[in-house]
Amino acid sequence: MILITGGAGQLAKEFQRFFKKNSIDFLAPNRLELDITDFDKVRDYILNNDIELVLNCAAYNLVEAAEEEKDSAYMINAYAVENLAKICKEKRIEFVTYSTDFVFDGTKDSEYTEEDEINPLSVYGRSKALGERLALEENKRTFIFRVSWVFGEEGKNFIEGVKTWANTRESIKIATDQVSSPTSTRDIVDITWKILNLRDRDYGIYHISGAGETSRYEQGKYILEKLGYTGKVLEGKCLDFTSYDIRPKYSKLSSKKVENILGIKIPSWCSRIDEYLKVGKTYLITGA
Ligand SMILES: NC(=O)c1ccc[n+]([C@@H]2O[C@H](COP(=O)([O-])OP(=O)(O)OC[C@H]3O[C@@H](n4cnc5c(N)ncnc54)[C@H](OP(=O)(O)O)[C@@H]3O)[C@@H](O)[C@H]2O)c1
Repeated sequence: MILITGGAGQLAKEFQRFFKKNSIDFLAPNRLELDITDFDKVRDYILNNDIELVLNCAAYNLVEAAEEEKDSAYMINAYAVENLAKICKEKRIEFVTYSTDFVFDGTKDSEYTEEDEINPLSVYGRSKALGERLALEENKRTFIFRVSWVFGEEGKNFIEGVKTWANTRESIKIATDQVSSPTSTRDIVDITWKILNLRDRDYGIYHISGAGETSRYEQGKYILEKLGYTGKVLEGKCLDFTSYDIRPKYSKLSSKKVENILGIKIPSWCSRIDEYLKVGKTYLITGA
């Protein structure tokens, strides 16, 4: 039995669709059903349900709010992750968890690789970075997938935000000074599953990100054009929307490691957004 934590999240839902389609047994409790910060309950749940793999999709993702809610961010993104890794070690099972491009400071001018030094600028980034370290220290059989700008069906994501603005605003301002790459939950699930099914296990950190890079502004404009939006699209800066200067200016993750291991090419972020906007289309990652 596979446990997917944070069952109501967008990545967790993609795993559920994938497992249903492939007739794989899973449990996907939402936060109310299994709060990952309830350490004892989590241990009982994993032991009593004979869990053989944990996919931790639960996370505290509110980047700005985390500056005020440090305890929650650290508890969910670091200490609960450590606890999950520890229980998996006790049960001698593999542990998978997800991290973020926000562990980097954004000063590099080329794609971030798994070997690059981390230097998070925010509480969110630091809490995720600590979760990575504690999980790897606790359980050698841990996979950490760093992902960026995630979007998936039924998710609370940037594309859905843009759709709402398109329906309610005559002009839309979006930041030009944040560059990375949108990443589809379908690619994250597909790659996670392929890595987990390799015969030779190479635990540790992997980056997954849609091919290409873009600013939030360019991404927003791309979506608005597809939606046929006729209002104005204005260039802004991150600091027009928040007083916290904590988002890396550039955080594109290099996916070369997973692409080389699996012999695949992750499709471009725009092609995945095209598919997302016509929800329901199935697609496969093409072989290299
Ligand atoms: N979304 C992004 O753009 C992005 C970017 C980089 C990395 N990531 C990482 O990718 C992974 C998947 O993210 P996602 O986009 O699927 O996130 P998501 O849609 O926000 O889902 C996270 C889920 O975790 C749940 N959760 C929060 N605290 C919990 C707790 N204590 N116990 C159990 N569940 C809890 C949330 O429930 P509530 O909604 O009820 O709180 C939510 O359903 C995460 O590790 C995230 O940090 C995401």
